[in-house]
Amino acid sequence: MAGIWLSARSAEAEWMDDAGQTESAFRAVLRDLEFLNRVTFGYRPTLNWLDALVARTGATTLSVLDVGAGGGDTLRAIARWGARRGVALELTGLDRSPAALAAARHMGTPGQWITTDVFDLPPEARFDLVISSLFAHHLNDAELVRFLRWMQTHATQGWMINDIHRHAISWCGLWAGTRLLRLDPIVVHDSTVSVARAFKRDDWRRLAREAGVAARVEWQMPFRWAVSSERAN
Ligand SMILES: C[S@@+](CC[C@H](N)C(=O)[O-])C[C@H]1O[C@@H](n2cnc3c(N)ncnc32)[C@H](O)[C@@H]1O
Repeated sequence: MAGIWLSARSAEAEWMDDAGQTESAFRAVLRDLEFLNRVTFGYRPTLNWLDALVARTGATTLSVLDVGAGGGDTLRAIARWGARRGVALELTGLDRSPAALAAARHMGTPGQWITTDVFDLPPEARFDLVISSLFAHHLNDAELVRFLRWMQTHATQGWMINDIHRHAISWCGLWAGTRLLRLDPIVVHDSTVSVARAFKRDDWRRLAREAGVAARVEWQMPFRWAVSSERAN
């Protein structure tokens, strides 16, 4: 068992992906996810990427789509970043769950919101940047290859995925942390399932090759992958 533990992506389902979850249960999960993102510095890879992109391009306005935006916490972190950096932002959250929209609005998330499955977005929709945080591991490999190509189409300047490193340290840290902090039972269950569904560097290399996209794959604290691509201009 120990030899094969976490050696390949798991297909075990997350409870939060059960369409039968009530709105209040889903919102409780999103609240805990925001807490985990904050205390583990989970926004850092996304903000680091935005910082580097703006430093290189000198952009002062950007439209940003956050896919699988949940309760909109990453968009709120990006809004604060934009205010600090003097970048005018047009923010859009996309999530298939109507409960995500309710949670995002309740938390004061700025910008537009689209409630849809990512692959049902109109093909002509375009954004300067497409980002996602803790979304990619919800997809299986075939869907991920499609998502990588999807981002190439919908992002005119670049895209970035921020997701978990499938590693024993992240698995054990979340197993213990979610229990010690008495987080929501769905989060306790899904946290380790998320790690098991997540990625090693070779997964990203293989998926990018299959999708035919050139992607930079960087490891960043806190045990996250920053997978990104920018258009040369
Ligand atoms: C783990 S949450 C991540 C929330 C937030 N981005 C964060 O960093 O905490 C994953 C989100 O992706 C959404 N999601 C999963 N599959 C989706 C799909 N195919 N299309 C759109 N949203 C999806 C779920 O509804 C959920 O809100």
